[in-house]
Amino acid sequence: MTPSHEHHILIVDDEVNIANALKRIFRNRGYRIHTALNGAEGLVCLEANKESISLIISDQRMPGMSGSEFLEQAKRIRPEIIRILLTGYSDVAAIIDAVNRGEIHRFFTKPWNDEQLLAQVEQALEQYELKKENQRLQDLVKNQNKQLYELGIKQKNIIDAKTQELEKKNQALNKSFMSTIRLLVTFVDVINPSLGSYIKQTAELAKRVARDCNVQGDALRDIEIAGLLHDVGLLGLPVELISKDESEMTEGEAKFFREHVTISLFLIQSVEKLKPASDTVLYHHEHYDGSGAPNGLKAEAIPLGARIIAAAGDYCKIVNLWPEDRNRIIKKVRLAFGPEMIKGIEDYPPAAMLGEIGERALLSGINTKYDPEIISKLIKYIREDRQHRESRITRQVRMHSLESGMVIAKDLRTMDGKLLLSKDIILSPYMIGVIMRLSRARLIEDTMEIVVQQEGS
Ligand SMILES: [Fe+2]
Repeated sequence: MTPSHEHHILIVDDEVNIANALKRIFRNRGYRIHTALNGAEGLVCLEANKESISLIISDQRMPGMSGSEFLEQAKRIRPEIIRILLTGYSDVAAIIDAVNRGEIHRFFTKPWNDEQLLAQVEQALEQYELKKENQRLQDLVKNQNKQLYELGIKQKNIIDAKTQELEKKNQALNKSFMSTIRLLVTFVDVINPSLGSYIKQTAELAKRVARDCNVQGDALRDIEIAGLLHDVGLLGLPVELISKDESEMTEGEAKFFREHVTISLFLIQSVEKLKPASDTVLYHHEHYDGSGAPNGLKAEAIPLGARIIAAAGDYCKIVNLWPEDRNRIIKKVRLAFGPEMIKGIEDYPPAAMLGEIGERALLSGINTKYDPEIISKLIKYIREDRQHRESRITRQVRMHSLESGMVIAKDLRTMDGKLLLSKDIILSPYMIGVIMRLSRARLIEDTMEIVVQQEGS
């Protein structure tokens, strides 16, 4: 194999005739020749042609710097350069030492044989080219690996960014979906504010209990949806029937009442995205001991969401749908739960009485109607909310002083007792407009109790 590149050779010799003889040999073979008369000059030439010189032939005996010393320094400048030493027989010991230290690749004794010298130089240059090509390929692979790595990182970053973007869009869609469901519930508010409050409070409590049971993501959202929609089928039923405990109902009323599950389910199944909430809605009247409807499912066979909504819904029904009249409450409690349930709270204000009855109803239904673990979590949140309400400071505000963002502390009712807005609602400019009109028409009082601040905040 003949070296394929046009190589530059540096010849260093203080004897001009030897340098010229060498120059002729290599120039005739197409090599480009540089010459120097001593080591120092040779180093200057090498620095100036660092990238092009691939082989050096240096005489050993030169004034100032010996050939092996010069080649040692040349190696530091360009380690891969081929270094050949020309020498007389008397210098053999120094040469062997230089070869052993790796400072030179080959050496020739004077007088040399032209053909042998050329053959050795060509062979050395072939190796030089192979090494260079090998290095080039290694650099190429290294560079390509680096590019692949960077590309991989870039692709990963793009994928990460796209995933984040999709997640954000998904969250926005879910948010907008939930806003639509909540908007639907505000229609219930308009038609029947008590039922609206009952539905919203049930969904809110169910969500907190479900989260406490380690339910997350879509499953948590589905329980909230079921909380908001499980009883929309009640909308067409008379309020008197809705507020009854099942134990108070006649057989005919109970049959009629149970139809609300079918209606709620029908509405939910008509929207694809609501379908995962179907089972929770279908089974929210099952009992923990298997005595419920429609399938008589027992304990953990009842979906968790349905067990939560069954308990949260029954509590919220009492506090939102029962009449706020002491005598009527006492009568209902005796009918639904027996006289023991009212003991010790006969003199409570109606709202406090309903809260206490709600809790007692949950506790009395443990292991029969309700899952005990869910009741313990639910009561914790009910008490937290009560404490929160009791510790807040309220004041009476004239209707013309109402501002958007104020929170209603007590239910707002018409003069004839019809519920208009439930407590804890945040006033919007539209609501204030309606309140002002009703107030001017003397259909409601001229003042309203609003929350000023939470105690200690
Ligand atoms: Fe129901």
